[in-house]
Amino acid sequence: MNRAERFLAACRGEKTDCTPVWYMRQAGRYMAEYRRIRSKHGLLEMFKTPDIAVEVTLQPIRAFAVDAAIIFADILLPLEGMGVRLEFVEGEGPVIHNPVHSTADVDELRLAHPEEHLGYVLESLRRVKSELGGERALIGFAGAPFTLASYLIEGGGSPDHLRTKEFMHEEPEAFERLMGKLTETISAYLLAQVDAGAQAVQIFDSWAGCLSPSDYREFVLPHTSRIFATLRAAGIPAIHFATGAAGLLKLLREAGGDVIGVDWRIELDAAWLEIGHDRGIQGNLDPALLMAPLPVLKRRAVEILDRAAGRPGHIFNLGHGVLPPTPTEAVRELTDLVHEHRA
Ligand code: CP3
Repeated sequence: MNRAERFLAACRGEKTDCTPVWYMRQAGRYMAEYRRIRSKHGLLEMFKTPDIAVEVTLQPIRAFAVDAAIIFADILLPLEGMGVRLEFVEGEGPVIHNPVHSTADVDELRLAHPEEHLGYVLESLRRVKSELGGERALIGFAGAPFTLASYLIEGGGSPDHLRTKEFMHEEPEAFERLMGKLTETISAYLLAQVDAGAQAVQIFDSWAGCLSPSDYREFVLPHTSRIFATLRAAGIPAIHFATGAAGLLKLLREAGGDVIGVDWRIELDAAWLEIGHDRGIQGNLDPALLMAPLPVLKRRAVEILDRAAGRPGHIFNLGHGVLPPTPTEAVRELTDLVHEHRA
């Protein structure tokens, strides 16, 4: 079984020769090759130039034995096609210059058209797919409606998502329409990514963990579950990822996903029991451990593999993205350890 087949089999909950592994944000600043390109280009320019996006996507593929590539893009890009003015400010992160603060703002948002507004991502996917030659799997992705709604309403990142919750509770109908527009845009975008060569997709609901189970069930689940229903109908494996969401695992499962992605704040076996063994699980190493002494990193990685106990459907990953100070040597050692481990 080659590495692409290993990853895709695990997505389907089938037995594999060893545990597949890839890393969220595996392309990024911790790699010197990335920083060299990044020093010459703005982030949006990098996402929108297929020559650059393809090269950056492939950098971790050349450096490590990871089983899958994830296309170099960002969850916020589809918002531009909806009429949002997006900027990545150096040292600050994403900023939205026309945030959503009223019902009228929601009504002004358009639906993004994948070919028209995100053609550069689709072009990069086609090129990466051909470069991979079927040896590694290609993962497409999108942000989930709630996480995107939070960026839209807050105008950028937020520690507490207070404005988002305020809008959700005070303007439930407008919030519902906003979530509906995001759901339609994301569904079409994901299907277009599949057409362009993505073999599996991950939905990032990075900030859903800020919600109570009741609010998640009422305001988020109906929308996210529509996206997963669309993906299921298309027969495309889907990973559903959230952080700080140990209390929402049953609801994430209910919303959908063949594989549920978990961070490091819950033990893998406890999380899997909660999710149910009829679904796969992805995770769940603390990204900070890649900066720890190698024996410490290895001990924690083996603990996770032992908790998975060789059950089919485990995809090894970090609990969140690779951090910029990560030594590449740690990524290399970890990847090899995961592949060499036998339950
Ligand atoms: O995983 C990958 O290698 C694929 C590429 C990818 C990026 N963003 C590129 C990127 C993916 C999957 C994302 C998803 C994303 N983007 C999420 C969900 C995942 C998560 O982290 O929870 C979110 C919330 C965003 C929004 C975003 N984009 C933020 C908050 C930032 C700034 C934070 C930071 O790390 O600087 C970005 C910028 C961004 N997107 C970078 C990369 C590689 C930073 C690059 C740089 O400055 O050189």
